[in-house]
Parts: sequence; C-alpha cells; structure tokens
Amino acid sequence: MRAAKPAHQRPELPDFWDLRFRERTTPWETGAAPAALRAFAPRHEESAGGATPRVLIPGCGSAWDAAFLAQRGWDVTALDFSAAALDAARATLGADWRGTLLHADFFAFTPDAAFDVIYERAFLCALPRALWPDYAPRMAQLLRPGGLLTGFFFLCDDPKGPPFGILPEQLEALLVPNFIRREDAPVDGSLPVFAGRERWQVWERR
Ligand SMILES: C[S@@+](CC[C@H](N)C(=O)[O-])C[C@H]1O[C@@H](n2cnc3c(N)ncnc32)[C@H](O)[C@@H]1O
Repeated sequence: MRAAKPAHQRPELPDFWDLRFRERTTPWETGAAPAALRAFAPRHEESAGGATPRVLIPGCGSAWDAAFLAQRGWDVTALDFSAAALDAARATLGADWRGTLLHADFFAFTPDAAFDVIYERAFLCALPRALWPDYAPRMAQLLRPGGLLTGFFFLCDDPKGPPFGILPEQLEALLVPNFIRREDAPVDGSLPVFAGRERWQVWERR
C-alpha cells in the first residue's frame, strides 16, 4: 500500500499553498493586474451601462487583480483557502481596501448573492484534475444567468502540476453545458510558467 502524500504536497489542500507563499515560491505572480484584464475592465463597464459589477476572484493569492478592480470601483469579493495567501493579499490591498476578503474554500462558501463576473487566473490550473468536474457547476451556481466567467486558461496537455494544463476540447466539454464562449484570444506578455500556453477567454453563463 502506498503511503498518503503529506498535506504540503497536495494542491487540493491549503497546506500546499501556505508553504509556497511562506517560502515565496510563487512563479505565477505578476505583481500587477495583467494587460488583458486591464483591457477587459473598461469594456465590461461600458456594457454594464454604469452598474457596479459584482465580481468574485476565487483563489485570489496576492490579490493584485482584486486591488485593480476595486480601484476601478467594482464590488470585489476575493477569496482564498490559504492563510498565507491571505496575508499576502492583505499586504497588497492595504488599509484603504473596501472590498470583501474571505478565508474560504471556493467549493464550500455561501455568497450573499450571485455574481456578475468571476475572474479566473491560475485557479483552475491550481486544482487537481479530480476536482475539475465540480468546477464548472460551481462557477455556474455562483454566477447570475448572463454573468461572465472571464480570465486566463492554461491550455496544454501537461499532466504534471500545478499548473495542471487542460486541453481546449476538455475545457469546452467542461464549460459548454453551462456557458457560451464569447471571447478567445492569445495572451501577450505571459510569465514563463504560462508562456505560449494561456489564452484569454470570456464565457457567458447560460
Ligand atoms: C496558483 S495560485 C494563483 C493565485 C492568483 N489567482 C494569481 O493569479 O496570482 C492558486 C491559488 O488558489 C488557491 N486555492 C486553491 N484551491 C482553492 C480552493 N478550493 N478554495 C480557495 N482557494 C483555493 C490557492 O491557495 C492559491 O492562492
């Protein structure tokens, strides 16, 4: 019988991420909101016709994207199940942050209301494949009909992770039952860990 892996080697557990944040082994970190998000935000604000978008950022890590959207006036809920990630997020967000920062498991928390937008970056690819079948229905549950799942998807067949790559056809099989794809574009300026293998996509909740 094989011994179970220790918690800090299991990415489905907070211990794995706590260790990486504490050791500062965080090659996915940008230190700023990525260009594709900066381009999307004003586009979305225009289509929202002045309404304040209510956005969820699951697995927010150091929360650079949460800081960016909050500064634009969005109603931001950022969550992470790693206490060390939340320490990093607090340092990024500072005392003036007016959004909601939750220490919570994406699959288990109860929101006050459905979201207009969920921003995905390095979250699906942080989840072991066994959790993928739960990802799409959970995203659909958290978004209002017509709401958007938007962000970066790590598209490749790399079985080792994190980051765990997903093939384009696997992503479609996962999301099409609940979502319609509205945007799909290459990404410039990726970090080395994602370079040439990530795409910006927007999926609308049916
Ligand atoms: C690769 S990091 C990405 C962080 C951030 N999104 C970014 O782009 O910098 C993945 C994050 O997801 C968090 N995470 C993984 N599974 C989670 C879950 N079930 N619920 C909440 N957070 C989770 C980890 O703690 C970690 O902070």
